[in-house]
Amino acid sequence: MNSSMHVAVAALATSTLLLLVLQSSAQNSAQVVKHKDYFYEEIAKAPEKARARINPLAADREAVQAGSNLFQQHCAECHGDSADGGKKGPSLRVPQIQEATPGAIFWLLTNGVVRRGMPVWSKLPEPQRWQLVSYLKSLGIRSGDGTAAPLAQQPKPN
Ligand code: HEC
Repeated sequence: MNSSMHVAVAALATSTLLLLVLQSSAQNSAQVVKHKDYFYEEIAKAPEKARARINPLAADREAVQAGSNLFQQHCAECHGDSADGGKKGPSLRVPQIQEATPGAIFWLLTNGVVRRGMPVWSKLPEPQRWQLVSYLKSLGIRSGDGTAAPLAQQPKPN
């Protein structure tokens, strides 16, 4: 390699590094904004027909436990062990989710919010998605400090 090639290689390496650094800092700041401003818009968009779907496992007493296991396996890493929010995902124990219909939650799981980091779960068999719905619905609303909030005082995040 001659010296001008060395310079070229070094310049390329530096700019690649810079790009990586810029990219990761952009991602970090996007995440902060997202947590404050954008959550729960998507579930509100569930179409009428999807919202009206009934959870076929609503009467199945084992569905909640099965859903809990699935949640730990697939969701807790982002939404936290008790679904009240983690590093990457918002709390699911807020009125926007707890008061959503089972069908709306099922629709959201099936479609994800991919552009915002919520994966699509359509590969999980339908009964498992309904088990997750049963589990989430069993949790109820909880305020940010981990105590159950009385209905009148529940925070309305954004
Ligand atoms: C890789 C991280 C990640 C995983 C894993 C994940 N989620 Fe999410 N989830 C997110 C993010 C980020 C959002 C916020 C999306 C947005 O901005 O609307 C979200 C949003 C949601 C919402 C609210 C929808 C809305 O309107 O924003 C529900 C309900 C939900 N997730 C359920 C689940 C369930 C159940 C699982 C497991 C099957 C799961 N998530 C797995 C990251 C994740």
